[in-house]
Amino acid sequence: MATITLDVDTTTGSHPHAKLERWVEEVARMCQPARVHWCDGSKAEYESILRLLVLIGTAMPLDPVKRPNSYLVRSDPADVARVEDQTFICARTKEQAGPTNNWEDPEKMKEKLRGLFAGAMAGRTMYVIPYSLGPIGSPIAKIGVEITDSPYVTASMHIMSRVGRHVLDVLGPDEEFVRGLHSIGSPMTLNQPNRTWSCNAENKYICHFPETREIWSFGSGYGGNALLAKKCHALRIASVQARDQGWMAEHMLILKMISPSGQVKYMTGAFPSACGKTNLSMMIPTIPGWKIETIGDDIAWMKFGADGRLYAINPEAGFFGVAPGTNMKSNANAMRSITRNSVFTNCAMTFDGDVWWEGMTEDEPPKVVDWLRRTWTPNIGRKAAHPNARFTVAASQCPSIAPEWEDPKGVPIDAILFGGRRAGIVPLVTEAFNWQHGTFLGATVSSETTAAITGKVGQLRRDPMAMLAFCGYNMGDYFSHWLKIGKRADAKLPKIFYVNWFRQDQNGKFLWPGFGENSRVLRWIFERCDGKIHAKETPIGRIPEIADLDTSGIDLKGSHVEELLRVDIEGWLHEVPRIKEHFAKFGTHLPDGLNDELKALEQRLQAAQK
Ligand code: GTP
Ligand code: SPV
Ligand code: MN
Repeated sequence: MATITLDVDTTTGSHPHAKLERWVEEVARMCQPARVHWCDGSKAEYESILRLLVLIGTAMPLDPVKRPNSYLVRSDPADVARVEDQTFICARTKEQAGPTNNWEDPEKMKEKLRGLFAGAMAGRTMYVIPYSLGPIGSPIAKIGVEITDSPYVTASMHIMSRVGRHVLDVLGPDEEFVRGLHSIGSPMTLNQPNRTWSCNAENKYICHFPETREIWSFGSGYGGNALLAKKCHALRIASVQARDQGWMAEHMLILKMISPSGQVKYMTGAFPSACGKTNLSMMIPTIPGWKIETIGDDIAWMKFGADGRLYAINPEAGFFGVAPGTNMKSNANAMRSITRNSVFTNCAMTFDGDVWWEGMTEDEPPKVVDWLRRTWTPNIGRKAAHPNARFTVAASQCPSIAPEWEDPKGVPIDAILFGGRRAGIVPLVTEAFNWQHGTFLGATVSSETTAAITGKVGQLRRDPMAMLAFCGYNMGDYFSHWLKIGKRADAKLPKIFYVNWFRQDQNGKFLWPGFGENSRVLRWIFERCDGKIHAKETPIGRIPEIADLDTSGIDLKGSHVEELLRVDIEGWLHEVPRIKEHFAKFGTHLPDGLNDELKALEQRLQAAQK
């Protein structure tokens, strides 16, 4: 192996953060990169990293007229989604990680990781990326530093979070920051040259050390595995901080809804991966006079304001959105966001230098290059874009972005939505009776798995609050935290709703048109917040009568609406033992409030059956 000398770039590396400098030095000694680059977050830096990515064959520039300043990146087929099997919460005890997280003893895991990271960056540049989650300098914002040997990750971080030297300007010498260490685990040596997408498919470890606020991620360069500010920091580490400090770090979109008379409500929504957060947050309402603006599409941090309301900020600065299915009809605001300055990953490429994916256009193109660089033609029997292909773009480019999206104090939340992909039983919309019942609805969310995670697609699983993969501590304690939030004396809490856009008929066809038509449901929710519209009490919660839901102008059979709003008593009674089973996993960590809700639900259902 060639000897590598460490060349720390001191011209840009001089700053007063001794703690940070020491950590960077320590990591460089362990990982043996060829050089260290401190990111300044500038446009010039972004451009030079993309030039490098093009040079080494990772990125391909798209046609500069069709899609200016945009690139296509294709990953390795062994590195296309989050790896939940290889994601660990290394708290001191297994109990602290809880029954839904993979756990390993922190010291044992560190030892293994030190072995893997030793020399892992040989031949590569080590990027040091200081970032702010939330507007820089805001009292709610948090600082992290990601060290990575992936230029793709560095470029993506530029788009997804607020990166640069100005972050360090607000970081005091003794202030806490989250330390995220990432390597693709593929040192570059004479025997092992660079590949267009280097990774270490056999050794992926996405590890969190909540006590020391550290993330160590090895082997993958894709999405949430590698962009450590996103799921690893803003959810897994932040959820632990939120528990300790009395706030909430949630896997939620944030939207603003404006009525025809100019009244405003803010809503958040927790749906599992690839279940419609980005789409709902950018939706164009089909009901006349109503407007939706976007605050965030994936993560919400919520804190109580002095007035007792929950205020939400979007800690991120960009979107990492699912490409397949995105088109001018389903999500025009996303399509308009990605007309320029965007990075596309695992999409197909057209012969005139643009990107394409399933569902992007009404007619399929006659021929494209698929995400694995093979010629693709319609009816070839495989997908042109990977089902988890993504676009990466700055939030500021979104035409529906709300003017207040970067307001450091956040926006006051009126309603919280939960939802998942359920073919049956779960109605189009249900309003919780109160906060505890709403917490119960969130805790029982179930959804079919999607391509956002490696593994089987379409498996029904419980995904409480869409946080199954993102809660950095015992989920039973997380439920208690939710109940505790609701017990705050002066709290003016949002109302909680459960939505399901994915109910199907016997032939597997969606009963509800979804996308912009979801505005009809949001309108009912909006008006429920003011107590202005009727709801029917049912054993599972409050539901609109058919007449309460504005369905004018949609081509929807009456029987479909009936089915969408039907409370299937038998189906729900069948669901009760499954919820019991789900709750049993949490043992003594399950708060009584949730057991009480389950018992009450069962009683209401039995009474309705008689
Ligand atoms: P992550 O980025 O993985 O967290 O996903 P997400 O929750 O943001 O999901 P996204 O909005 O990207 O949607 C994922 C898939 O669901 C896409 O294929 C969409 O076309 C589809 N989808 C979104 N909203 C709806 C809807 O209202 N109805 C139906 N039928 N499909 C939808
Ligand atoms: C998700 O899986 O929920 C995503 C994609 O948003 S990733 O950033 O890879 O986690
Ligand atoms: Mn999304």
